Amino acid sequence: MAILAVILNLLLFYSANPIEKFIYKYFVQKTIVFVSSDFDNLNEKFNFVLHLNQPKVIIDPQNSPVLENFDNYIIAERNLSTLWSSIDLVKYQINTRANFLVILQINSTEEVTKSIFETLWSFYIYNVVVYTNWSSFVTWYPYDFENRCGTAVNFVEVKSLNPYKYKIPTNFGGCPINFTWNEMPLAVKSPFYKTDPGYEIRFLDAIAQPLNISLFYLTENAKFNLEVGHQNVKEDMIKRKIDAGFLMTNMYMSLGPESEISLHYFETYTFFVLPPRQKIISSTETLLIFSPYIWSAIFAALLLMTIVWKNMARVSLEASFFQIIRLLLQGTINIPRTISTRLILASFFFYVLNLNWIYVSQLSGILSQPSYEPKITTLRQLGLSNKPLRFDDVWLWFFSFGEKYSKIIEKRIEFDKAATFYDELEDFLAQRTYGIITSDTRILFIKNHEKLHVVSQSQLATIRSHLVVRKGLPLLDKINDVILRVRQSGLMSYWLYESQVHIKKSPVPDYEEVEGHLDLERIVSAVVLLGVGYVLSVVVFVLEMMYAHFKALKINT
Ligand SMILES: *[C@@H]1O[C@H](CO)[C@@H](O)[C@H](O)[C@H]1NC(C)=O
Ligand SMILES: *[C@@H]1O[C@H](CO)[C@@H](O)[C@H](O)[C@H]1NC(C)=O
Ligand SMILES: *[C@@H]1O[C@H](CO)[C@@H](O)[C@H](O)[C@H]1NC(C)=O
Ligand SMILES: *[C@@H]1O[C@H](CO)[C@@H](O)[C@H](O)[C@H]1NC(C)=O
Ligand SMILES: *[C@@H]1O[C@H](CO)[C@@H](O)[C@H](O)[C@H]1NC(C)=O
Repeated sequence: MAILAVILNLLLFYSANPIEKFIYKYFVQKTIVFVSSDFDNLNEKFNFVLHLNQPKVIIDPQNSPVLENFDNYIIAERNLSTLWSSIDLVKYQINTRANFLVILQINSTEEVTKSIFETLWSFYIYNVVVYTNWSSFVTWYPYDFENRCGTAVNFVEVKSLNPYKYKIPTNFGGCPINFTWNEMPLAVKSPFYKTDPGYEIRFLDAIAQPLNISLFYLTENAKFNLEVGHQNVKEDMIKRKIDAGFLMTNMYMSLGPESEISLHYFETYTFFVLPPRQKIISSTETLLIFSPYIWSAIFAALLLMTIVWKNMARVSLEASFFQIIRLLLQGTINIPRTISTRLILASFFFYVLNLNWIYVSQLSGILSQPSYEPKITTLRQLGLSNKPLRFDDVWLWFFSFGEKYSKIIEKRIEFDKAATFYDELEDFLAQRTYGIITSDTRILFIKNHEKLHVVSQSQLATIRSHLVVRKGLPLLDKINDVILRVRQSGLMSYWLYESQVHIKKSPVPDYEEVEGHLDLERIVSAVVLLGVGYVLSVVVFVLEMMYAHFKALKINT
């Protein structure tokens, strides 16, 4: 039986038409996606497709689902113009790096066959075999020397070699890549400054070298906002058929189907940074030596002792209270007779002594040391602080992702949208009244940035650098290979270091000095307390006088 099956298969193979044989040979076992805009009027030579022994998906380009995960496509069209419009319809739905077999159902001249390859290449579909005149299979190698980076087509007949292999070389022989770019602080100064172009340009040049591609840096590029906005770049890339550009993004960003992104090759961390903490004069601090909890614990202890003492010394509550107050002020009271009472008294005295020491030492610390604004290390604290903040629109979008950011958004202050990064930095340093968002690379523009007050425990987004390329760019896999190597080499840090050596760095100016000696302002709370005491005693004195006066009057009458 087995032998019979083999023979049957062999017979099938030899009786089959050439397309069928081709499929048996190169599209083995895999799903075939069959694309045709006019499936009902197909040549009868395609009838075999319907009873093919392997999975197949037949689609009409007018309403194609997403078919990106497939490796084998057959496109059958009537003529060149229908071929072009079909691919134009499905270009973002298919895997352009897959294997393609294209069949036009008319006899085509050599010119037309070349146009077929050119048409597909314009969509970056490079792994193509064309079945011409129902008689021969032909293919081409876009990066071969004679095809001049895909600008000329010289096709060859498919012989014994697998026509779907060896399409992407490891050396691209100097083929050009059109690259769009914008100036970005440190990262991209200008690709045309040979010695110090910025670390991202150094990286690109390093990628281009092993692949032997020539980077063609375009001029008159669409402006784009660093963090948001590949949007403008994407449109420009499609319109002008640009191959690649820079993309800095965080993981929340998704790209449309028109472009793809490489692996990331660099990351920076973003965080809020505030001006240096300022020395402040606090007049309420003398009250805040102990926290409210400790204050209440102390009062509770005194109250308790008053009650305990009342019972032990057998005096009235009032007398007990005043005796405790005397102890507090380190005055003396009558020594009790029993030993246990003496012990309790001694330990309470010890407690009061310690309390006094602690209070006095804290107080003198506060009065003589200058104090600083409270330290802000988390976004929560930042939200509760009184610092205004300044950041780009793009961050509003980022902050819209978490409830915890709502306070941050409220603190935002507006600024001139046209201001450059450098203007903004200068203004931040000159004003020193608000916080900004910066990154571990951009902070290098500030000379003594250690002085700044970094909200260190709440990192914002991690911004990754990628290349964005037009969908299907055949080099993408090779570029990713090189990116991995560069990432491992640690060269990026070196280039970053070099790019910041010669930049102009602005210092953080000092605040005007706050005097360190004691002045009235600093002990104002003590003065206020004293005043309150005086006023009270005067009131009590007057009341007592009046009381005595009335009493005398009463006795007299
Ligand atoms: C191509 O085929 C379509 C549909 O079969 C037809 O409408 C169109 O005129 C043809 N175009 C050319 C240039 O032959
Ligand atoms: C296909 O046929 C046309 C005319 O029918 C002819 O001009 C052309 O050379 C043929 N192409 C190939 C590749 O044989
Ligand atoms: C197409 O070309 C093939 C081979 O080149 C030939 O046998 C056939 O007659 C041609 N058909 C037409 C319609 O020209
Ligand atoms: C890069 O390609 C050019 C053009 O084909 C060639 O002359 C040169 O030798 C290649 N460079 C390397 C390093 O392979
Ligand atoms: C690259 O851009 C230049 C100038 O815009 C253009 O002349 C050239 O054709 C472009 N190359 C490619 C491969 O798109």
